[in-house]
Amino acid sequence: MKKPFFYDITLRDGNQSLKKPWSLPEKEIIFKRLLELNVQAIEVGFPNSSEMDFEACKYLASIAPDNLVVSALARCTEKDVSSAVEAICHAKIPRIHTFLTLSPFHMKYVLNKDPMEVRKTAIEAVKFACEKIKKANKNGEVQFSVEHFGDCGENLDFVIDTLKEIVKAGATTINLPNTVERKRPRVFLDMVEKVYNALPKDISISLHNHNDLGMATATTVEGYFSGAIQLECALNGLGERAGNTNFYEVAVALYNSGVEMPVDLSKIYETALIVAQMSKVDVYEKAPLVGPDALAHRSGIHQDGALKTKDMEFGAYRPIHPSLIGRKDDEKIGFTSQSGKTAIFEIISKAGYPITIQEAIRLAPAVKEAAEKIGELPTRNIIDIYFNEICNIKGVFKLINFDHIGEGKFTVEFDFKDKNYKMTGSGNGPIDACMDALKQAGFERKLLYYKQIAMDEELLGSGANAMSVIHIEGDDGSKVIGRAIHKNTAVANVKAIFNAYNLIYKG
Ligand code: KIV
Ligand code: ZN
Repeated sequence: MKKPFFYDITLRDGNQSLKKPWSLPEKEIIFKRLLELNVQAIEVGFPNSSEMDFEACKYLASIAPDNLVVSALARCTEKDVSSAVEAICHAKIPRIHTFLTLSPFHMKYVLNKDPMEVRKTAIEAVKFACEKIKKANKNGEVQFSVEHFGDCGENLDFVIDTLKEIVKAGATTINLPNTVERKRPRVFLDMVEKVYNALPKDISISLHNHNDLGMATATTVEGYFSGAIQLECALNGLGERAGNTNFYEVAVALYNSGVEMPVDLSKIYETALIVAQMSKVDVYEKAPLVGPDALAHRSGIHQDGALKTKDMEFGAYRPIHPSLIGRKDDEKIGFTSQSGKTAIFEIISKAGYPITIQEAIRLAPAVKEAAEKIGELPTRNIIDIYFNEICNIKGVFKLINFDHIGEGKFTVEFDFKDKNYKMTGSGNGPIDACMDALKQAGFERKLLYYKQIAMDEELLGSGANAMSVIHIEGDDGSKVIGRAIHKNTAVANVKAIFNAYNLIYKG
């Protein structure tokens, strides 16, 4: 199959739909982005629509690279065509894009003209455009669009006959717009296939789908497999009403279908942000591929799958690896009442705190309860719960006081259930001494491991710059982890021991 030919219409259909159409310098910025994306053709504007657009078309044609098709729109009038030729003829490959409706409804109610009269106007305009552009530039081309092609179901034979004449008149690209998307893609594409089969094979068939029913991407992608080689798309799907076909979605969908891509997909994300800023049309939160939320997972099942496959090219819950389109943000894990332990583990770890999956399981009920009240929890709230539930475990043991009273000797005062204990323990440092005191009180346990994890003071707050981690042997020989922070390391160690004890001894 031939590579798709991406014909960009952001600067024309996109621009004409903006609340404030772009100035020449703004058009130049978008034009340069399109060159970086490596699209093969750019419709730079509608020269006869305003002096500003004429100048913009002329300037962009003058800076276009030699391999780019530079196109300009013209109605089927000598004035429009002449203006378009004058504006872009200095491009290496200029293309005049004329259009006229052939839809019965539109010819009758909007143009108020007889179909044969419309046909004649179209053929003459194409002839005129061909002569004019060829005279100005031997590489010049003409494209003809059947405006409202999607509404031509009942007079398709008339349309095909007209297009045969238009091809004879010199048009080399026939564009079949779904000017207003009303029908399902297959019905529209059956019509496209009929035109494709009826015209000479060296004619390039083009699609220009508006997105009124949200199916423009699907129609364009499938249209490529129905014989349309030129795909008219717009950055961020800009265009009249609900927009034109979204370039990013089409390019990525074709890439995922194994089609060789002439365009540079890695520039997509950055371009989407620039275009949103310049058009003042925000990227919709849920926009495919580039939306802020397009990489967010909130249900526990999706979070689990997403995290297990996050470094793989093929992800459990995403269509592409984000780097394909130059997206640097990771898949986002947002914690809501629908989320679970995997999300807690990920969010806490990513924030820089140590956590095990068992601890995440323990935290889950408290985090879920908070999320039920306020919705998606900010990371700060989850960290606060982590400190409360992991570094400050409430239970049957209550540490009251811990004091160094001499060489290797410490007093430890604590409550166990309703009973108060004041013990003196000795040993090689506060951990040994505390374990000794607990042993004397009848709570002997084996210390398995001890560590201070150095951390940024900012992460821990309260002047501490390390987290104490103590592993104590549980009843079944398991390892029970106690964590604590305190600006005094000895106190942090003892608190960590009591946290672990509170996990082992239940009420
Ligand atoms: O939507 C449309 O039909 C158009 C034509 C000018 C191609 O924009
Ligand atoms: Zn259009």
